[in-house]
Amino acid sequence: MQEDVFLTAEQHIQNEQQRSHPHASGDFSWLLSGIALATKVVAAQIRRAGLVDVVGSAGTTNVQGETVQKLDVLANQALLTCLGNRGNVGVLASEENEEPVVVLRDPHYGKYVVIFDPLDGSSNIDVNVSVGTIFSIFRREDGDTAPLDPAADVLHPGTQQVAAGYVLYGASTMLVYSTGSGVHGFTLDPSFGAYVLTHRNMTMPDSGPYYSVNEANLASFPAGYTRFLAALREGRGGRNYSSRYVGSLVADFHRTLLKGGIFLYPPTGRYDKGKLRLMYEANPIAFLAEQAGGMATDGARRILTIEPEGLHQRTPLVVGSRKEVTLLMEMLAGDGK
Ligand code: AHG
Ligand code: MN
Ligand code: MN
Repeated sequence: MQEDVFLTAEQHIQNEQQRSHPHASGDFSWLLSGIALATKVVAAQIRRAGLVDVVGSAGTTNVQGETVQKLDVLANQALLTCLGNRGNVGVLASEENEEPVVVLRDPHYGKYVVIFDPLDGSSNIDVNVSVGTIFSIFRREDGDTAPLDPAADVLHPGTQQVAAGYVLYGASTMLVYSTGSGVHGFTLDPSFGAYVLTHRNMTMPDSGPYYSVNEANLASFPAGYTRFLAALREGRGGRNYSSRYVGSLVADFHRTLLKGGIFLYPPTGRYDKGKLRLMYEANPIAFLAEQAGGMATDGARRILTIEPEGLHQRTPLVVGSRKEVTLLMEMLAGDGK
């Protein structure tokens, strides 16, 4: 067979589905193509930020009480539209919508549930720093013909995700996802508008030279975190470390995935349960981290085992290389935290 000159994300997912589910209906790759289309729309707007009016506040606040940026609204609309018309999505849930949106009333067809953060790192849009989109995909039980119940259909632990991924709008635009068979990265080739496989089977180094945390919150971290960071700074982590913090989870995680190290958003004075949201930030990132050989915890337990109680619930997040995450966990355990 002719060696592929390039492999698009849609073709890759189709090949994967054929391998693991020979009778796959092509449904999943069609779903993923909806995410690919929506994020190409977002990328096109981001590339023209400043030239087109997508920068700045939309003048509203979201369910999180945060100021909504124009690009949050555009990205949210793009995903709701491109996923809403796939014909196989039952429920969509977004950071920007207080309640999940039932898309297809017929449970026989609406078998996928997609939960997403349409624009991650919004505070960085105006200063031209990398932002992202994060998505998490669940599948209703086969043959589950119970009427769609948005709350019940959305609140599952991360272990039940059938796929998760993100798009990083950085120096290049990259789609990174996993369906449970490793992590694969695709770079958008703007010359013909396709996501092309560039990073096959991405694996996270067992250790890495970066720690990533908002140190302005240091005074209010639980003691184990501050002791851990002091240990890294003082070379007691067995190597020299550098601090890197972009302030966009997708960008900070992407670097951690490629280079290793650790990202932390601990409990703080302002966010006593952590700032990041379980369903559309921590869970998809944790799924990818584990698929790449890394770890993701809330400081005490695996992120993926947390039983969710609400779509927008927050959690502390520690994600990264086995060595650094294990060292932190030992320090926190020593604290009984
Ligand atoms: P969002 O823009 O979707 O609200 O996410 C922002 C998050 C995450 O991207 C980042 O890691 C974190 O907020 C940064 O928070 P601080 O500015 O408090 O460090
Ligand atoms: Mn976010
Ligand atoms: Mn967001």
